[in-house]
Amino acid sequence: MSKRVALLTGGGDCPGLNAVIRAVTRRSLDRGYEAVGVREGWRGLVDGKFQPLDHRAISGILPRGGTILGTTRTNPYKVDGGVERVLEQFASERLDALVAIGGEDTLGVAARLHEERGFPVVGVPKTIDNDLSATDYTFGFDTAVTVATEAIDRLHTTAESHNRVMVVEVMGRHTGWIAVMSGMAGGADVVLIPEHPITIEEACRDIQRRHERGKDFSIVVVSEGYELTYASGERQQIAQEPAATDQFGHVRLGGVGQALAAEIEERTGYETRVTVLGHVQRGGTPTARDRVLATRYGLKAADLVEEERWGTMAALDGDDIVEVPLKDAVAELKTVPPEFYDAARAFFG
Ligand code: F6P
Repeated sequence: MSKRVALLTGGGDCPGLNAVIRAVTRRSLDRGYEAVGVREGWRGLVDGKFQPLDHRAISGILPRGGTILGTTRTNPYKVDGGVERVLEQFASERLDALVAIGGEDTLGVAARLHEERGFPVVGVPKTIDNDLSATDYTFGFDTAVTVATEAIDRLHTTAESHNRVMVVEVMGRHTGWIAVMSGMAGGADVVLIPEHPITIEEACRDIQRRHERGKDFSIVVVSEGYELTYASGERQQIAQEPAATDQFGHVRLGGVGQALAAEIEERTGYETRVTVLGHVQRGGTPTARDRVLATRYGLKAADLVEEERWGTMAALDGDDIVEVPLKDAVAELKTVPPEFYDAARAFFG
């Protein structure tokens, strides 16, 4: 029996989304099924915004960043009558399955719809933050780490020439995966992450120790979710608009780099500058590794649809692509384990 397979991309855009769309569509078309794109994440299912996906639509999209379907942070559970509208649109468009490509928010909605309403959905783990459980890696993360590492390499030049401390603020929300990986790859002298918060005093001591050894410059990587932490026990989260949250209740982080740089300059007397990488980390073409991972995830998701394994997600376990329950992926944030941070820490100061 033929199937109409819908796809949506939700949350922040991420390198590799188009590779997933291409793989799900290609495998579905090869099976004689129809593929239907849902525009702008869950908003497209609430408002009934669809586009057909055929061979032409997916031609040439593998190396393209962003998503050809558009994306939003719409949460149908926060829209008046949102869930009923999703179910109505799904039925009136005669859809049989949904492949939801997203992070904890998008997949959280998918898991809940499946659990509460028996919705026929499978998930694909996307996010540059790499904070989803039940999978070793999300796609998009490798690209973000590669971009951040390249930036750190470039910032070394200025740091060294001017005898400066360069603070690099990276994304990652409430986990420090991007910071710890790019910091390790780029040879950072201090890395500050939310999960294992060293104090400002410790960070300054590491920088001073390094300078006493004759190194006149330092690279400090800070994750946007790191709370300024002081030896006194005081902690302060820096957010852009503390009062404003999105439909999933997230504050918009950003700005900790500036605050940290001011503290470092004042306490050490070393000239300090800040670079905030921001959305550059999410933009542009995916790395080869992300293209391959996204493609394998997409093919697996199409197979999960074929087998009607609703409420599951494609995941990476070692080198294998496997099936896991969606609810396991969103049950808790996957944080950086202490041994990962210790490996970065071995090079502090
Ligand atoms: O979840 C991905 C992410 O890039 C986070 O690292 C960051 O905190 C957030 O999205 C930024 O969101 P926005 O694109 O809405 O500014």
